[in-house]
Amino acid sequence: MSNRTSKKNPDLSRSNPERFTSAGFILAAIGSSVGLGNMWKFPYITGKHGGAAFFLLFMICLILVGLPILLAEMTIGRGGRGDAATSLYNLTGKKHWRLIGLLSVLCAFLIMSYYAVVAGWTLHYTVESITGALFRGGDDYRGKFESFASGYWPVFWQAVVMLLCGWVIAKGVSGGIEKFNKILIPGFLAILLVLMVHSLTLPGAGQGVEFFLKPDFGKLDAESALIALGHAFFSLSLGMGCMLTYGSYVEQKQSLGSATLAIGLGDLLYAFIAGLVIFPTVFSFGLEPGEGVGLAFMALPAAFSQMPFGFLFGGLFFVLLAIAALTSAVSILEVPVAYAMHNWKWSRKKAAAVISSVCFLVGVPSALSVGGVLGAFQPGGKTVFDWFDFVTSYVLMPIGGLAVTLFTGYAWKRAGEEAGLSGFWYKIWMFLIKIVAPILILLVFLYSVGIISV
Ligand code: PHE
Repeated sequence: MSNRTSKKNPDLSRSNPERFTSAGFILAAIGSSVGLGNMWKFPYITGKHGGAAFFLLFMICLILVGLPILLAEMTIGRGGRGDAATSLYNLTGKKHWRLIGLLSVLCAFLIMSYYAVVAGWTLHYTVESITGALFRGGDDYRGKFESFASGYWPVFWQAVVMLLCGWVIAKGVSGGIEKFNKILIPGFLAILLVLMVHSLTLPGAGQGVEFFLKPDFGKLDAESALIALGHAFFSLSLGMGCMLTYGSYVEQKQSLGSATLAIGLGDLLYAFIAGLVIFPTVFSFGLEPGEGVGLAFMALPAAFSQMPFGFLFGGLFFVLLAIAALTSAVSILEVPVAYAMHNWKWSRKKAAAVISSVCFLVGVPSALSVGGVLGAFQPGGKTVFDWFDFVTSYVLMPIGGLAVTLFTGYAWKRAGEEAGLSGFWYKIWMFLIKIVAPILILLVFLYSVGIISV
C-alpha cells in the first residue's frame, strides 16, 4: 500500500473514504448494468438476429470487449479513488486526462436528464396498471401512450424519479446506493421468475421461446456483430464513468476479476430471463414482437388486458421495468455527483440536491419533446430527446470507452497491479484492451454515426 502513496498522490483512499461491502458492490453494479436495455432491447435484437446464434455472438462480444473494459473502469476507479475525471488525473498527474474524463461526466449528466424521463414513464405505467386505469377505455394502446407522452404528466414523473434518485444518493454509498440495490435487485429477480413461469405456461408460449432462442446462424451478419458489440457496451453501463465511479468505492481486498465475471454473468442472466418473459407473452396473444417503447407501452399492455389477472401481471411487469430503470439511473446520477464532491468540495447532500435539480431542468425539454409542446421542434430531423440520445449513446459513450482502453493500455502503467492480474491473464487483458477493444469500438462508432455501412 505504501508505494501507492507519493507526494503527488497522497493516500488517495483517505480523500474518498466511502465504501461498498463486497456483496453490496456486486449488487449495485448489477443494478446499474441491468436496465431497460436488458428488458426491452436485448430480447428483441436476439430474436431478430438469429436467436441462440446471436446469444453466442453477444457472449463473445462481452468477453472480448465488455468484460475487459468493465475491469478497466473498476480498476481505474479503485486505483484513483476519485470520480470519472479525477481518478484519471490522480493516477497520472496529467491535466489532459482530467479533461477527457470530464467528457464522461458530462455524458452521464446528459444521459440522466432524459433517462429520468423514460424511468418516469415506467412509474406512470406501474400506477396505471395496478389501478386498472390502463385497461379501461378501449385497447388503443398506441393512442394511450401518445396522449400520455404528449401531455405534462411526464414532467411530473420525471421529477419523482429525480427526487428519488437524488434522495438515495444523498444517503451515501452504503446507506443509500447499496441499500437501495440490496432491496431492489433480489426483488427484481423474484418478480422476474414469477413472470417467467407465468408466461411460459400461457398457451402458445413455445412460439415465443422459438423466436427468442432458435439458433439461426444464417441470420448473423456484419450488422449483427456491430449491434451485439454496441449492446455489450451499453448493457454493462460502460463509457460514461458509472462503473469507474462505483469502482472507487470498492474495498482494496475485493477481487476485481471475480467481480467482473459476476457482473457479466448477472447481466446476461437477467437479459435471458427477460426474453423468456416477453416473447411467450407477446406470441401467446398473437402480437408483433418489437422493442423499446412500442413493446413495453403498446404491445405488452394489449397482452395484459386479455389475460386473467392481467392488471396484476402488468403491474408486476412495470414494477420490474421501473426497478431496472431506477437502479441504473442511480448509478448514472452518481457520476456527476461524485465529480461535484471531489472537484468543488461539495458535501454529498448538497451535490445530490443541486445536480439532480439542474439535471431535472435540463431534462424538461426532452420530456416535452415526445409529442408534447416541443414535439414539432426537430432540428436536423431529430427531437430534443433524440438529440440527447444520439450525442450521448453514439458519440460521447464510444469516446469514453475508447479513452478507458487507451488510458489502461498505454497511459497508466500499474493497471495490472491494481486489478490483481499478472502473467497469462494480464497479457490477455492487455491484448484485448490495447488492440482488440479500441479497434472494435472505433468500428461500432463509425457504423453508428453512418460513416461506414455494412
Ligand atoms: N446498462 C443499462 C441498460 O442495460 C443502461 C445504462 C447505460 C445504465 C449506461 C447506466 C449507464 O439498460
